[in-house]
Amino acid sequence: MARVLVTGGTGTLGSSLVVALAARGHDVRSLSRHKPHAADVEGVTQVRGDVQRGEGLADAAAGRDTVIHAVASTRMARVVELEGTTNVIAAAAEVSAHLIYVSIVGVDAMSFGYYRAKRDAERLVEAGPARWTIQRATQFHDLLDRFLGWRVFPATKHMAFQPVDVGEVSEQLVDLVEAGPGGRAEDFGGPAVVPLRELAAARRQIVGSAALLLPVPAVGMLAGFDQGHHLTPDHARGELTWERWLRARAASTPA
Ligand SMILES: NC(=O)c1ccc[n+]([C@@H]2O[C@H](COP(=O)([O-])OP(=O)(O)OC[C@H]3O[C@@H](n4cnc5c(N)ncnc54)[C@H](OP(=O)(O)O)[C@@H]3O)[C@@H](O)[C@H]2O)c1
Repeated sequence: MARVLVTGGTGTLGSSLVVALAARGHDVRSLSRHKPHAADVEGVTQVRGDVQRGEGLADAAAGRDTVIHAVASTRMARVVELEGTTNVIAAAAEVSAHLIYVSIVGVDAMSFGYYRAKRDAERLVEAGPARWTIQRATQFHDLLDRFLGWRVFPATKHMAFQPVDVGEVSEQLVDLVEAGPGGRAEDFGGPAVVPLRELAAARRQIVGSAALLLPVPAVGMLAGFDQGHHLTPDHARGELTWERWLRARAASTPA
């Protein structure tokens, strides 16, 4: 049994990850700034803390042999990635824990600011004193569903995504906990690269609505998405397709 701290344990990935860890017999402590929305999970202790400010982190890391850093911040992305990851590395190193950093496929090839911040955070992990593993994944189904729930979404000519299930990414992260420090893990992508217009069409058919795709030129930060640097077709390791995920979600949502 591993004693694991999950930072961001109430997030989209984190809330699935803490359940997957507990189900495989690990002792889980979850850290976030706010209370979880869902009910308590057996085997998971919730603690309050802020990785960017470093508040609560040392206490949360005490006695842990693994720390999975799964925080995301859209509003303060760069500062949370750099200062937060620096604090998490120090907390993990202090207790000689294995640090697992969750990252995104293609962060080293994209000019998008959030991805650049993640790439710089990866470098901090690689150069830091904690024993580490970095796992990159493609976009989660939940994220694309959120994007396609907007009224309008910008679409370059060749834009496609490779959506992946957070449950499958969670199982992969539990495997990494059990394997121990391994450096850069193989990318984890969803089962298929799907053109954005097909993702939108499936959502329209299954959910009843999808964003209007607004054609935009493949310039600036969108160039990398048009060229597919965020995709990893050679590592299509997930199995749950976009359509099956949408149908399962529709079936579990009260009408
Ligand atoms: N979303 C994707 O498609 C995707 C794809 C590949 C990789 N990833 C990576 O997976 C990780 C998790 O992403 P996600 O989509 O699950 O994020 P998310 O749903 O936005 O959840 C973010 C989590 O971080 C916590 N958090 C934010 N700021 C914090 C702080 N300063 N201190 C402590 N906790 C903080 C949030 O809780 P509070 O707000 O209550 O603190 C929440 O638990 C990130 O590293 C992300 O880059 C995401």
